[in-house]
Amino acid sequence: MTDLETNLSALEGRLTAELAGVADERALEELRVRYLGRSGEVTTIRRGIGALPPQERPNAGKVINAAVERMESALAVAVHRLGNAQLESQLSETIDVTLPGPPARTGSIHPIRRVMQDVGRYFTRLGFAVLQGPEIETDANNFDALNIPPDHPAREGLDSFYLRPDLVLRTHTSPMQVRAMRESGPPIAIIVPGKAYRRDAVDARHLYQFHQVEGLMIGSDIHFGHLKGILTGMMRELFGPNQEVRFRPSFFPFTEPSAEIDTTCPGCAGSGTRGDATCRTCGGSGWIEIGGSGMVHPNVLREVGYDPEKVAGWAFGCGLERFAMVRYEMNDIREFVENTPSFLEQTA
Ligand code: DAH
Repeated sequence: MTDLETNLSALEGRLTAELAGVADERALEELRVRYLGRSGEVTTIRRGIGALPPQERPNAGKVINAAVERMESALAVAVHRLGNAQLESQLSETIDVTLPGPPARTGSIHPIRRVMQDVGRYFTRLGFAVLQGPEIETDANNFDALNIPPDHPAREGLDSFYLRPDLVLRTHTSPMQVRAMRESGPPIAIIVPGKAYRRDAVDARHLYQFHQVEGLMIGSDIHFGHLKGILTGMMRELFGPNQEVRFRPSFFPFTEPSAEIDTTCPGCAGSGTRGDATCRTCGGSGWIEIGGSGMVHPNVLREVGYDPEKVAGWAFGCGLERFAMVRYEMNDIREFVENTPSFLEQTA
């Protein structure tokens, strides 16, 4: 054995011994660099070729290359062994399949829809039908049939979105009273939740698209007392058992008599104060206004072919944003349409 061969086999021996102790890929790479890298041990030996007698040089090159090949394959075997060991340890890991997974993120119900659902549930329980109507309405249904004559201020283009001279985005849900009464004879007990549109400038209290719920009850002996009882029940469903309802005389063309509806302010339970301060929700009156109502005007009954001498009934219309703003203590109506997740999640 030449000196060169002795050196190489000692080097291989050391590499083999060190490889046996290697436990991860980084240590393996370190070994490769130290033995076979550009300034590694083999390179040092290769440099020695120049000092050999010329006739020995070609053979020395071959011997070194053969040794390098053997060392490379020893490294490859070690890479393989490490890979297997890693896989094995992964396979033997125990996974607790009974642990709960990460919670799934779900959407939430919009506060307006939630209020709508609560109102709907209450009236369905009482036997009312829940109807929906077109948002594009004839101006005849939106105004004329509701006893709003052509020269009435509510007709002004300023207040309504006209699509054609005879078509309008309904300015309230009341035209569904007319459609429902034309569709079927009395008795009638319906509610109509839905969107309405007005050409209002958007601010903290106004949107040009908002929601109402209309109510209509027609029969042979329906009176205002039924309306008060039913609305009181509705408010108790929404805000709790201590709600009261009061009527204030008012005017609507399609009702006579007409009344504005107030209910106990849920923010201060009707006291007008919260702690030492004036209640923000009702401004200190203890009441909040929720909509309009009245006994259906004889002209409206006649318009749909009913006989005002034989049937009577009441109607009401309430703003759903109003309910939701009071329920969630909001003071800016624009929040309903801004789709801020943090706001929507509060009412999930
Ligand atoms: N339609 C009215 C409005 O949008 C609200 C209203 C008042 C509806 C009296 C009614 C009613 O059914 O009887 O302002």
